[in-house]
Parts: sequence; C-alpha cells; structure tokens
Amino acid sequence: MDQGQTLRQHLDGFATDPDRRLIADAVAAFADAAIEITELTCGGALAGITGEGQTLNGDGDIQKDLDLQADRIIRRALAGVSVAALASEEANEIEIRDPASAISIAFDPLDGSSNINTNMSVGTIFSIVRTPLHARAAFTQPGTTQLAAGFVVYGPQTSLVLTLGDGVDIFTLDRKTRAFRQIRSQVKIPPNTAEFAINASNRRHWDPPILAYIDDCIAGADGVLQTNFNMRWIGSLVAEAYRILTRGGIFLYPADARDGYREGRLRLLYEAHPMAFIMEQAGGGATTGNLRILDLAANTLHQRVPLIMGSIESVQRLERMHMSPDIKFERNAPLFATRGLFRN
Ligand code: F6P
Repeated sequence: MDQGQTLRQHLDGFATDPDRRLIADAVAAFADAAIEITELTCGGALAGITGEGQTLNGDGDIQKDLDLQADRIIRRALAGVSVAALASEEANEIEIRDPASAISIAFDPLDGSSNINTNMSVGTIFSIVRTPLHARAAFTQPGTTQLAAGFVVYGPQTSLVLTLGDGVDIFTLDRKTRAFRQIRSQVKIPPNTAEFAINASNRRHWDPPILAYIDDCIAGADGVLQTNFNMRWIGSLVAEAYRILTRGGIFLYPADARDGYREGRLRLLYEAHPMAFIMEQAGGGATTGNLRILDLAANTLHQRVPLIMGSIESVQRLERMHMSPDIKFERNAPLFATRGLFRN
C-alpha cells in the first residue's frame, strides 16, 4: 500500500480530468480547514473555545462557539474552489456560489459538538455531489449521486477518512509538517462484529425490531446470536464511524417514539449520506432498517433519518428483522431463543 504518501499526492493522482480536479481541490480545502480546526479543538479554552452554546440553528440545535467558527473556516477554505451550491448544518438556506460548477457540497462543520467541553472527539463531515441542471436541486438527489465523501476526526490524532468512489483511505495529520499522510488504504470493515453502539437510555422508546436486536446482543452467548457482545457509545458519529472502520461494529441511531425522533436524529445530507457512502465503499452497509440510505433523497435541507451502519452481516440482519411482521410475536414466544429465522 502507498503508506506515507501525502493527501495532496493522493489527490493529484486522482485528478486526471477537470471534474476530478475540482473534487480534489474541494477535498484539499476541507483538509486545510481541518488543520485550522485542529488548532482550536486542541487548544480548547486556551484557543478561546468554551464549548458553550450561543444561538439556535435553523433546526433548533444549540450552536456552540466552535460550530460557528468551524463553519466560517470551511467556507473560507472553499472560497478558492468552484462550487455550485453549499449546504451546511449551521445555515437555514443553501448558498449558491457558481451555478455552472460541476460539484456541490453538503457539510457538517463540527459534528458531536456537545463533546467539545468534555475533551472528547468531534469531527467534520462532507459530501460532494454532482450538480444537476439546476444548482438549487443539488441536495434533492439520492445518496448514490455522491462523487466523494469524507470525515475528519479531531481526537488524539486528527484523521481524515476519504472515499473518492473507489474504496476508503485514511490520512493522519502530521502536525510537524502540517500535511495529512496516508496511514491506511482500501479499508475493509470486518463483515461480522461483536460490538454495538446505541444510546441505550432511549430503550423504552424503541420500535420492536431495534428492541429485539439489542436484546439479542445483550443476551450474549446465551441468546440467538450465541456471542458475547461489547457496547460502546461515544455520542460522536465520527468517532463511532472511525471505530467501525478500524475494527468493525454496528452503530444504531434509530427512529424512536420520543417527540421529534420519529425520523431519528441524524441528518440525511451531511451525516447519513456521506457515512453510508464510506461504509459501503469499505464493504459495510447503511440502512434505515427498511431502506438503503444511499437510495434516499432529501425533501428538506436538514431532514433527519434513522441510521444503522457498520458490519454488513449485522446490517443485513437488522434489515431482515425490520421486514418480519411477526417480530412482536417472535419476541414473546417461549421458543424464541431457538427460532431459526434470525440466525445468520
Ligand atoms: O450530530 C449529532 C450527534 O452529536 C452525533 O454525532 C451523535 O451520534 C449523536 O448526536 C448523539 O446523540 P445523543 O446525544 O442523543 O446520544
């Protein structure tokens, strides 16, 4: 593998025509912005970051000081790149820049910002799509129209995970040279896993298939999965995704019965679409339980969607469990643990 090549070298190798050059320049702009954002996340209070809420964004989420700064940094980094339409988690409207450009970009400048003042990993997520005839329609296309997607984790290391549509590569920031260097190429997610991630405090609000699946994980070697599971919940999508790419796993942020959560919590355009593209490119999967995430198109800019992603066999198992109309009955049946339907 090309261990050690810089992100710039990787992008230059990819940029064999003008449209690809545009994609490469956009990714490079996110990498430049990530270096600046790293200074802020690593500096914390010393860099003037309090992690405190300031305002509400269009969807009612509290915007932290770093959310807004990251948004400004990314918009500035992208100023030199021809982009038709930009959609940010932090803005109510899309921004039309150069409607003739072949690419449009949706991004979450700082994901997981409730983790900022607890000194835990946060990240930036981006999705680059082909601009349709009318730039305003750029973000109403299914996720299959993505040309590239990536995310940056600001953790102990700053790492950028990238797909240009041909596998997934990971680059880590060398802070001495301020360059991203490739540390993994063609990442593959193990198809099986014994690790799940879900906010279990919402258990009483879950739908039957989610309840059944998590109960099966918790039953461990005594249950139908016949495997002792481990659980992780970081509360930061980028950190969970990075862990899954590293050692497999299944992540669930399902729809649930709480007010405002009937469509889940995460956003389709700048969270689920790019994560799904990356997961599939690494041999994993991403689904709502009923539908493949990449087949979905957004009706609104900040549309939410249930997201289940990770190791392919677990994703497929959850899809089968959603398809079974008998799931409630199955859970109550005395012979539940011996049923064959949900065994892999
Ligand atoms: O983008 C929203 C986010 O911060 C994700 O990074 C994370 O997966 C999720 O919210 C955590 O939500 P909750 O606080 O409900 O567990």
